[in-house]
This record gives sequence, structure tokens and C-alpha cells, in this order.
Amino acid sequence: MKKIGVFTSGGDAPGMNAAVRAVVRWLSANEVEVVGIKRGYAGMIDGEFVALTPRDVANIIQRGGTILRTARSKAFMTPEGRAEAAKQIAKAGIEGLVAIGGDGTFRGAIKLTQEHRIPIVGVPGTIDNDLYGTDFTIGFDTAVNTALDAIDRIRDTAASHERVFFIEVMGRHAGFIALNVGLAGGAEVIALPEVPTGPDEIAEQIRVSEAKGKSSSIIVVAEGAYPGGADTLMRAAQEIYPFEGRVTVLGHIQRGGSPTAHDRVLASRLGAAAAETLVAGTSGVMLGEVEGEIALTPLADAVEKRKPINRDLYELAGVLAE
Ligand code: F6P
Repeated sequence: MKKIGVFTSGGDAPGMNAAVRAVVRWLSANEVEVVGIKRGYAGMIDGEFVALTPRDVANIIQRGGTILRTARSKAFMTPEGRAEAAKQIAKAGIEGLVAIGGDGTFRGAIKLTQEHRIPIVGVPGTIDNDLYGTDFTIGFDTAVNTALDAIDRIRDTAASHERVFFIEVMGRHAGFIALNVGLAGGAEVIALPEVPTGPDEIAEQIRVSEAKGKSSSIIVVAEGAYPGGADTLMRAAQEIYPFEGRVTVLGHIQRGGSPTAHDRVLASRLGAAAAETLVAGTSGVMLGEVEGEIALTPLADAVEKRKPINRDLYELAGVLAE
């Protein structure tokens, strides 16, 4: 291959820039031209392409967000949109693509390959960590540390006022952030989409905690753990057992900020491996890291197979909340 395109798509994640840098620099070192596609699939349809040299990706390894920008494109969900994107790719002489994103990004990539035979490899970039075929996605570690910093601060005020705080973290369909943040933040309860936890259970847990002498509690709730989120869950629990409660929704703060060392190393490794894989003639796969080793997983498996949460960690968090 002589020319390869790289893009970021879906929710941004800290470390995406480090992955772009790795793709560009690995390909340039191997004499392959690189084209940056702006705004994900939306920019692909509009032909928003820029040449990227090693100097263009200087000083971005430490930056959150994505210099290529990102989008969730509705037009790309139609066959016409994908045909236009394929036309633009061909017109620019791009022979293969590195897609950095999450499950929506990879579902789009699978369709683009099926309908237009464009070779694509995926790099897992999402704070959610919900992709099969990699122990960690790029951005997860940073998001967990950002949320943890917030929880530590909230614990100070929760303890001072003797209140129960419900803290909602991101994760519509997956509880990876909530679980790690909950364990590391010493939460009394962790509510995950994977382990339904209703208001009855939470009310009872708060009652028991009070009886044991705890004067404040932290309840970590994943966005998708309960219909209506942490606020609705707290109000329902208060109907069962009255307590002084407050809700904090951490929201998009978890998506920003400088990537941790872990995310930078992961992004550098996976970005370079993706470039190498594509140039070597393999496509339709996601590059991941499993038990410390680079692993290739078909894109279809990465999005269709479910990565389970670590039940041992969940149980441990419960025991340590004593
Ligand atoms: O997929 C990443 C993510 O941050 C989810 O955790 C969250 O549910 C969603 O994106 C929010 O999407 P948006 O930024 O489009 O509101």
C-alpha cells in the first residue's frame, strides 16, 4: 500500500491523538503516505482529507480529544452515504483505512468493507472499555482516574455533611468504568447495567451501613444501570428508606483531559500495530492487547461478542465496603 487514511469516530477518548501519532509515524517510517480524514465518517463523505507528516503530529501525544475531530454521522448509516464515502476514498487514492473508535465506528467499518471492499483495521478508542478482544480500550484508564479524582473530592464533602452521594459515571451499556471507579473509590454500592441493582437493595444497604456506624456513603451508578439514571434511583431509594442524599453526574468531564501513561503506551502500541497489520495485507480486524500481548480479533467479534465484567472485582468491592 502506498497511501493509507486514518480517522477517529464516535465519542472521543483520551489517547486517540497518541494513536493517530503512532499510525502516522509508523507509516511514514515505512514510506507509506498518510491522509487524515476529519470528523470521522461525516468528513469521509464530505472529502475532508489532509496530508499528515510526522511533523503534523508533533506535540499531540499528551493532548486529550482528537486533532482529527470526531462525529456520529447519520448519513453514513445509509447505503448512499457509504457509497459517497467510498467514492471520496477512491478519488483520494487511499488504499486502506485505520479506524480509531468504538463499536459504532467498527460497525460502520464492517459495512464499508462489505459494500465497497475497502481494507480497514480498527484501533479500540473509547472510554467505555466495552470491546471484546482487548483487555483495555484507549481512554478507559484516563476516564477512570478522572472520575476517581472527582469521587475523592466528593467523599470529603460527603463525610463532612454526613450525606449519601450518588455519583453517576458514563457507560450506557457497560459498567467497566463504574466497577473500577467503585472499587478504587471505596464505594458502598456499585450499580452496573450487567448486575441490576434496584432501589430496594440500595435502601437496605444504606440502612445497614448506618446501623454499622457509617455516617456517609458513596454509591457509584453507571449511566445505564437504572432507567432515569442516578437521580431517579436515589429518589426511589429515599421513598423506601429516608436519607440525606445528593446526586453528582460526572458526564463529559470523563471524556477529556491529558491521557495517562497507560493510555499513551497502549495507543502507541496499538496504533503502530494497526499500521503494520494493514501494510502486511491483513484487514477486517481490531488490534487489541490481551494479557500484555498484541491480539487480532475480527471486527465482527469485537462488536458482537460481549466482554464480561470481572465478577471477582465486583464481589471484592462488596466485601471491602464492609
Ligand atoms: O461511548 C462513549 C460515551 O461517552 C458513553 O459512555 C456515553 O454514554 C456516550 O458516549 C455519550 O455520548 P455523547 O457524547 O454523544 O452524548
